[in-house]
Amino acid sequence: MKKEKLDGHIFLIGFMGCGKSTNAACLSDMTGAGLMEMDHEIANRQGMAITKIFKAHGEEYFRNLETSLLYSLKDRAPLIVSCGGGAVLRRENVEFMKKNGKIVFLTAEPETIFERVRDSRERPVLNGNMNLEYIRALMEKRYPSYREAADLTISTDGRTTREICLEILDRIRLTRNTL
Ligand code: S3P
Repeated sequence: MKKEKLDGHIFLIGFMGCGKSTNAACLSDMTGAGLMEMDHEIANRQGMAITKIFKAHGEEYFRNLETSLLYSLKDRAPLIVSCGGGAVLRRENVEFMKKNGKIVFLTAEPETIFERVRDSRERPVLNGNMNLEYIRALMEKRYPSYREAADLTISTDGRTTREICLEILDRIRLTRNTL
């Protein structure tokens, strides 16, 4: 397959467990662009798991790390960026993403999300709240932020990673051609 040349970053956004990491890795393979998994990068730089960062310093501190990591991508060659599920909650993050690439919102049904995250101990936002009702309510609360940020919205339920990524690349090409 011919590698796709990107003219900006691709930011994958969406709720925890919607498939950002898996699809980002596949997009990176398909395009040859580098991969940035924000949570991994933050944990590596801090030498601490995300849950530990939340516990030791609080959510605000983590959100500040997220924002400065995003800003550090400004002059980098195009990357596939798998964003943390809460990265769109700050307006400045979304503004940065809009200026520096395309924002792809991956969706999945709450039931699908719950099945994917139910055994995870690495998601502090869900600790103590690992149930379908809580997930559904938080998804609904965040939905407007994802919708508003998104250049493209792609459903992931019942689809393979390859199908999803081909659709993302097709639709990005289309947006580019109609600009
Ligand atoms: C968060 C999602 C997590 C991680 C942190 C907070 C959120 O990333 O950034 O635990 O607020 O939705 P994933 O979406 O990759 O799980």
